[in-house]
Amino acid sequence: NNRHFFVGGNWKCNGNKRSILELVELVNGIHVERNTGVEVVCAPPFPYLDLVRSTLKKEFGVAAQNCWIAGSGAYTGEVSADMLLDVGVEWVILGHSERRHLPELHESDETIAQKTEKALESGLGVILCIGELLQERENGKTLDVCIRQLNAVAKVVTDWQKVVVAYEPVWAIGTGKVATPERAQEVHNAVRQWFRNNISTQVADKLRIIYGGSVNGQNCGRLAGQRDIDGFLVGGASLKPEFAEIVLSHR
Ligand code: G3H
Repeated sequence: NNRHFFVGGNWKCNGNKRSILELVELVNGIHVERNTGVEVVCAPPFPYLDLVRSTLKKEFGVAAQNCWIAGSGAYTGEVSADMLLDVGVEWVILGHSERRHLPELHESDETIAQKTEKALESGLGVILCIGELLQERENGKTLDVCIRQLNAVAKVVTDWQKVVVAYEPVWAIGTGKVATPERAQEVHNAVRQWFRNNISTQVADKLRIIYGGSVNGQNCGRLAGQRDIDGFLVGGASLKPEFAEIVLSHR
């Protein structure tokens, strides 16, 4: 396939000015060939976006970890897509399982769909996370859940060009229990098939579907070798030097 391999580093709620600048230095030191290489996007917490955008090399992208469903206005504590664009941010992660499932946040499929619509309309690229809980997997509901989450977004999104789908089984996130390459490939393939049947063949062929959940320097190679795995969304290992190996794991 000719899909451009995509590796996101989701730094989550970690770091301070000093450690963030160290991470930027680490990423800046990764040698990625222009055009033919991999697309790398770093997602620091909100207060550091501007700093990261101004210190990270231009060939690397910057993502926020969330954004608001509407434009600027009386929404205390929220950050709009326009503000992100204003400081040079190109991407936003939406629908991360921590935002879907932490009881204090509990974002619904519909909220995530609204945020996706707004972010795309404003001009951001969206890394849209989907994935099942352990119990859902054990009950054989993996695809039902992924499709339900995608359906909510498909109701409001017509242009998928700036969307990257991140399949992140929740039981694999931060647990060290990575999905086997075969198991991940099976879901990625089924998700692509869903796009083929419900959106279009063109979108299905072009869409990057990346995997997230305990990806590290050791397991990234075999995952990257799967036909429908077009990259990674990395949490814990994106804070460590092994992030470089993950970035360079593509074929
Ligand atoms: O967004 C990243 C995922 O939540 C994966 O996190 O690599 O620490 O398992 P992890």
